Amino acid sequence: MTTTPQYVTESDADALAERARRHLWMHFTRHSTYEDGGHVPIIVRGEGPYIWDDQGRRYFDGLSGLFVVQAGHGRAEIANAMSAQAQNLGFFPLWSYAHPGAIMLAERLAGYAPGDLNRVFFTSGGGEAVESAWKLAKQYFKLTGKPTKYKVISRAVAYHGTPQGALSITGIPPAKVPFEPLVPGGVKVPNTNHYRAPEEYRYDEKAFGLWAAERIAEAIEFEGPDSVAAVFIEPVQNSGGCFPPPPGYLERVREICDAYDVLLVADETITSFGRIGDFFAMNRFGVVPDIITCAKGMTSGYSPMGAMIASDRLFEPFKHGNTTFLHGYTWGGHPVGAAAAMANLDIFEREDLNGNVRDNEGAFRRTLEKLLDLPIVGDVRGAGYFYGIELVKDKDTRETFNEEESERLLRGFLSKALFDNGLYCRADDRGDPVIQLAPPLIIGQDHFDEIEGILRHVLTEAGNIL
Ligand SMILES: Cc1ncc(COP(=O)(O)O)c(C=O)c1O
Repeated sequence: MTTTPQYVTESDADALAERARRHLWMHFTRHSTYEDGGHVPIIVRGEGPYIWDDQGRRYFDGLSGLFVVQAGHGRAEIANAMSAQAQNLGFFPLWSYAHPGAIMLAERLAGYAPGDLNRVFFTSGGGEAVESAWKLAKQYFKLTGKPTKYKVISRAVAYHGTPQGALSITGIPPAKVPFEPLVPGGVKVPNTNHYRAPEEYRYDEKAFGLWAAERIAEAIEFEGPDSVAAVFIEPVQNSGGCFPPPPGYLERVREICDAYDVLLVADETITSFGRIGDFFAMNRFGVVPDIITCAKGMTSGYSPMGAMIASDRLFEPFKHGNTTFLHGYTWGGHPVGAAAAMANLDIFEREDLNGNVRDNEGAFRRTLEKLLDLPIVGDVRGAGYFYGIELVKDKDTRETFNEEESERLLRGFLSKALFDNGLYCRADDRGDPVIQLAPPLIIGQDHFDEIEGILRHVLTEAGNIL
């Protein structure tokens, strides 16, 4: 196997970082780091749960790329299916036409989805799926006699993508401020961060969940039920460091949505395709939403692909007369992406990746929880193969770091130290400072130990530099 793509020769590998510095605009990246002489990390190859950089160094991929590479890197079977599809039909749109790949994938996703979520609208990614879901919610209510319903309720610190609608739904002020004014109608409620719950709920997760759910009802009442179209929730919220739903929370949110005729949208961009041990996390939590948005793991990252999956009820008005959802994307349901998704889902079935997560999630949690003996580790939380480790200044009081300390800890030390020690993952402070882990779904105890070993070493050093 080659270690670099064909267009990178051994002799110019060193110059790549310089070329990146001159021409590549990296996403969500503080470019001054590289203008000031920092080396752009360049990943050239992946195999299983490992990746290699242009200097030949190996890293454990603790984030599956970006919550994406569920089946692991280097799957020839997916590449071959994509190649065969590209040779047969490289592209055709879904604009009034269909092709077999999109049809078969839509049927397969509907089969995995809960309840009567049977209608699949393909997008190129998660943000577009969120955007599509909001647009559908608005038009659905216009078509069914409630034209003033347009607002969306979502949760503090949640990330739902970068298109301007999805950004309105996003609850991270610094990500929004540069682009304001955004789409009107985004209303925020508290998330389910139990570690930071109001004092009276610290020791009663169920009561905390019901308290958080009631904040949604309160917001609907406050905004006016006739103005609210949808509630967007990640079953396990990523941003802020993996907040699982407290017991009873999702059930109560479903009841509230039903009571006010508000659509429940589960944004499963991260939590679908095995991350929580089922094709959709909502299957595991036993609550049926009206819409699921998904992307990332659908192809294990071998091709960009996303989808909005809607219930029969939401599609019903679009079956009649000249009613049309005037919305679409050139790349939605791309034939090569559909082929990648089908091959990826074949691997899921054959290797029982969901079963692997369910069998090993307890061991993953127990291994990560060993880190709680370090003074800097305040909380270990998550579900499936999806965890956040919250770092604190004072474990007893749960005091967090101030902005300057957080900057020094995360950007000044942790991100680089983890990578230098062979673990690619994410040190993030969109909420409180956390390390995020979402490894490929093919791994077991040996790899859990490897992750824990590197984290232990680096977090011990981090405690010393502060
Ligand atoms: C919950 C959630 N929604 C939406 C998005 C946006 O997805 P994309 O980057 O594919 O547009 C993300 C991306 O991480 C996400 O985590």
